[in-house]
Amino acid sequence: MNIQVISNKNYLEENELSVFFVYEDNNVDLKNEVLNTFFKDFEAKYSKIDICKIFKDDKLIDLMLVGLGKKNEISIDDIRNLGGNISKKLKKYNIKEINFLNIKENLNYREIEALVEGLKLGEYTFDKYKSDKKESVDKNINLNLDENYNDYIKQGELLAEIALISRNLVNEPSNVIYPETLANEVINLGKEYGFETEVYGKEDIEKLGMESFISVAKGSDKEPKLIVMKYNGDKESNEILGLVGKGLTYDSGGYSIKPTNSMVDMKTDMGGAAAVIGAMCGISKSKLNKNVVAVVAACENLISGHAYKPGDIINSMGKKTIEILNTDAEGRLTLIDAVYYAINNENVTKVVDIATLTGAAVVALGTVATPIISNNDEFYNKLDKAASLSGEKIWRMPVFEEFKKVLKGKEADLNNSPGRDGGCITAGLFIGEFVGNTPWIHMDIAGTSVSSKDFGYKSKGATGEGARTLYNLAKLI
Ligand code: BES
Ligand code: MN
Ligand code: ZN
Repeated sequence: MNIQVISNKNYLEENELSVFFVYEDNNVDLKNEVLNTFFKDFEAKYSKIDICKIFKDDKLIDLMLVGLGKKNEISIDDIRNLGGNISKKLKKYNIKEINFLNIKENLNYREIEALVEGLKLGEYTFDKYKSDKKESVDKNINLNLDENYNDYIKQGELLAEIALISRNLVNEPSNVIYPETLANEVINLGKEYGFETEVYGKEDIEKLGMESFISVAKGSDKEPKLIVMKYNGDKESNEILGLVGKGLTYDSGGYSIKPTNSMVDMKTDMGGAAAVIGAMCGISKSKLNKNVVAVVAACENLISGHAYKPGDIINSMGKKTIEILNTDAEGRLTLIDAVYYAINNENVTKVVDIATLTGAAVVALGTVATPIISNNDEFYNKLDKAASLSGEKIWRMPVFEEFKKVLKGKEADLNNSPGRDGGCITAGLFIGEFVGNTPWIHMDIAGTSVSSKDFGYKSKGATGEGARTLYNLAKLI
């Protein structure tokens, strides 16, 4: 998709599709009788999209009318979704080029940024493995604006781009994206976008004392990789934001094996990793004057003669011992070592971990919002702002002492599976045991990282959840 600013394109051309936004509560007067009649007949409910032909000055003109609903009811995220819906229409009718004519009169700078973001995100489908996929034509989107809008258009495009990087990584199956190939993708993205990547293999991981991470990885023939991404945009400051993403390239559950129906989607268990990778691309491409280190402990949770087992007692980089009650509660085991490493070896001064961690998160907030745990109000408030900018919904969960008590092990310091009650809170707090006093945020995207349907700027499969919010967070801190 090609998004271009074309100034003064406010005339109607034959064989071109002209798009007009219409508010329900706006009396449009386009100084044009034919159009006015058309607009009056159009019921401009939010996201109503009509395509029609009109006859004007002996020419047959293609028109798309787009309803915006009531002016004071529409949000930025509504505009983003509207962009997505328009993209889906273009795809459906195989439309190659459109001209947004009255855009300046109806949308402000931020809304135009969101429209561009939505157009780009809504176009996406993951169909590369389908033989009968529709040949996709590259679309030209012409916006009747001037260069004052360029920065906003660029920003909208970048936000979409980084979420799409995440979506692609998540949608790839686990026979294509496994720890080594994920690391290679990150190395290439780092070269393209401008961040450093270090990749550590099994021996290094063992030397670092990451017994918890290694225990999860042991059952697979594929070597685990510790992937570290670094962006140093503020040489004067010691402040470093740490981003840690869960990178299970496949989660079978291990010996606490998942039923097939739950297992089939578990190539997406690296959605957290994909989010931090996407965010790093955005941070470095925009050359933010911030320091950011992202860490992904990438591995597969499988079954073999080498796999860890329920009842095992293992150690961790933070030197707390853990009894394994359930090998399917593996994400937290990889995350504690990654978070501990980020704080103690990379000296991050604030840390966010993001993970497809628990089914309990889906029970709590469905696919609508991401549950959050945090030990720091100020840091959480920044995330809240960042999430509202991206239109991603978050909700802070309560941290009561009762939830911490159940983390204790019988024969070890901790256990990895305290039971169903408050499951997404206890999983988050388990990670919290390894952050000390460092300001910390935990995001459980198990419900939000994958969408079951095409809607607005989302498409079936990975949503890219977290990438845009973490990028916004890096800007805000
Ligand atoms: N990767 C899963 C969580 C998940 C579930 C992600 C559904 C996306 C959709 C995680 O590793 C897991 O299996 N969690 C268990 C934890 C339990 C054994 C304590 C769960 O939620 O059932
Ligand atoms: Mn699991
Ligand atoms: Zn998992």
